[in-house]
Amino acid sequence: MFTNVDGGEDYEQDPRVTAVDAYTAYHLLSPSNIKYHDALDHAYFNSIEKGLPDIAVSRTQGQSLAVQARMTGAKNILEVGTLGGFSSIWFASAGDDVHVTSVEVDPHHKAVAEENIASAGLSGRIEVLLGPGLEVLPNLIQSVEDGKSDKFDFVFIDADKENSLNYFNLAMGMVKPRTCIYVDNVVRKGNLADEHSTDARVVGSRKLVETVGKDKRVAAVVLQTVSEKNYDGFLMAVVK
Ligand code: DHB
Ligand code: MG
Repeated sequence: MFTNVDGGEDYEQDPRVTAVDAYTAYHLLSPSNIKYHDALDHAYFNSIEKGLPDIAVSRTQGQSLAVQARMTGAKNILEVGTLGGFSSIWFASAGDDVHVTSVEVDPHHKAVAEENIASAGLSGRIEVLLGPGLEVLPNLIQSVEDGKSDKFDFVFIDADKENSLNYFNLAMGMVKPRTCIYVDNVVRKGNLADEHSTDARVVGSRKLVETVGKDKRVAAVVLQTVSEKNYDGFLMAVVK
C-alpha cells in the first residue's frame, strides 16, 4: 500500500491517500473556509525555508485539531512542541477567544514560530515559552496552583517522543474534567506494535500507551491515521 518517498523524513505515502487529502483540502480547507489560510501556508513554507524539519501536522490534521477544539469548547490550549507554530495557528483558528500556550525547546524554532504567528496577526493569542518541557511544564503547574494561570482544556503533546509520558503526567497536573490530552505520532508507520523495537521514540510511545492503559483518571484511545504525510496515529485521552 505505502511507498517510501524521499522527503527528508522518509515518508510513507500512498497515491490514493494523497489524492483524497488533496481533494478534501480543496473543498473543505479553502481560503473562504479557513480564516488563517494564507498565514498557515506562509507558516508552512517559511518554516521549511528556515530549515525546520518537515514534520508539522498535515493541513487536514490541523483542521482536525481545530474541529476538536471547537467541539470541546476549548479556550485555553497547551501545546508541547511548537516547531514553526503551524498547529498553534490551527488551534487559534478554532475561535477568536482561544488562547494557546506553546512550549518549544529550540530557540531557532521559537523565533521562526513567532515570525509565523506575528504574520498571522496572532501574537496576542499564541504565546511561545522557551525551554525543555520537563522544566517549563512544572513552572506552568506552579502558575496554575498560584492562581496566576487558568487550567487547560485541551493539551496537544507533539515533542520528543521519548518524553511523551512525562509530558502527559505533567499535563495531568493542570487540566479539568473533560480536558482532552492528544499525543501525536504514536503509531509511527505501525512500529508501535513492535515489542522488540529499539527506536527510543517507539519505546516512548509504547510506555505511554501501556501506562495510560492503567490510568483510571482518563478514558483513552489510539487512532491510526493516513494522510498526505505519513501512516501514523495519535493517542487521545479525556479526563474523567
Ligand atoms: C516526528 C515527529 C513529529 O512530531 C511528527 O509529526 C512526525 C515525525 C519524528 O520525530 O519523527
Ligand atoms: Mg507531530
